[in-house]
Amino acid sequence: MTVKRQALVTGANKGIGLAIAKGLADAGMTVWMAARDRQRGESAVKTLQDDGHDARLIELDVASDEKVARAADWLSGQIDALHVLVNNAGILVDATTPPSGLAMRDINTTFEVNLFGPIRVTQSLAPLLKKAGDARVVMIGSGLGSLALITDPASIYSSVNLLDYSASKVALNAVTVSFAKEFEPFGIKVNVVDPGNVRTDLNDNTGVLTPEEGAATAIRMALLDPAGPTGGFFASHGRQPW
Ligand SMILES: NC(=O)c1ccc[n+]([C@@H]2O[C@H](COP(=O)([O-])OP(=O)(O)OC[C@H]3O[C@@H](n4cnc5c(N)ncnc54)[C@H](OP(=O)(O)O)[C@@H]3O)[C@@H](O)[C@H]2O)c1
Repeated sequence: MTVKRQALVTGANKGIGLAIAKGLADAGMTVWMAARDRQRGESAVKTLQDDGHDARLIELDVASDEKVARAADWLSGQIDALHVLVNNAGILVDATTPPSGLAMRDINTTFEVNLFGPIRVTQSLAPLLKKAGDARVVMIGSGLGSLALITDPASIYSSVNLLDYSASKVALNAVTVSFAKEFEPFGIKVNVVDPGNVRTDLNDNTGVLTPEEGAATAIRMALLDPAGPTGGFFASHGRQPW
């Protein structure tokens, strides 16, 4: 008997997360679409189900220890193993205030979602990931999380100065490397991906790529074969510099 492979995508109700969920469902996976808001999640799940996909809703606010623990506990009653986890949920709270004026409250909120969210979700789902034997974890990082690029005058990323967002994504790169090292003996590959400049609500739809184009590298890393890399940083053209 072939057991259907299971994927979970956080922040799957719109933007890049929704496109990643579609891509993984197109690849034949059962996709658990995690959303913090039940109604928004239900309508996103319905769009995939209407296309004949095996999509299911899981309520998950990545900023809450308690809600993440409860969701992981519930999921372990639904499935035996998790083959793909995409930590996609992310926020950009304040794109205009310079670093010296940023509110500490906003910096905390950004870290709760962009950095502590992927840590707590990955920790809570680790038992299910280990049971898969060949799981893939994809962190959605950013070019703004590359110290090499934000300090390179030739890179478009060097003209953007978002203290909290950049710092959360730089730290997410280190988190990726740490999990990759721990999980290697379990056959789990952990990589971080820069989706590029994508047209979504996060940037008031000013990006140049479609969500589907932005989702492509994450989908590729979620479906990596056993010879694929772990603990790396990737974009559409290949490796990104740290
Ligand atoms: N757009 C770009 O150009 C770009 C570039 C580099 C990296 N990224 C990264 O790509 C990822 C997806 O962003 P996007 O551009 O697709 O933005 P988006 O359209 O605003 O989607 C963000 C998603 O994250 C969810 N989310 C926010 N806070 C959450 C929380 N506490 N718990 C659970 N879900 C939460 C949102 O849910 P709600 O609908 O409930 O708010 C939404 O589903 C983020 O990690 C972002 O940093 C984006």
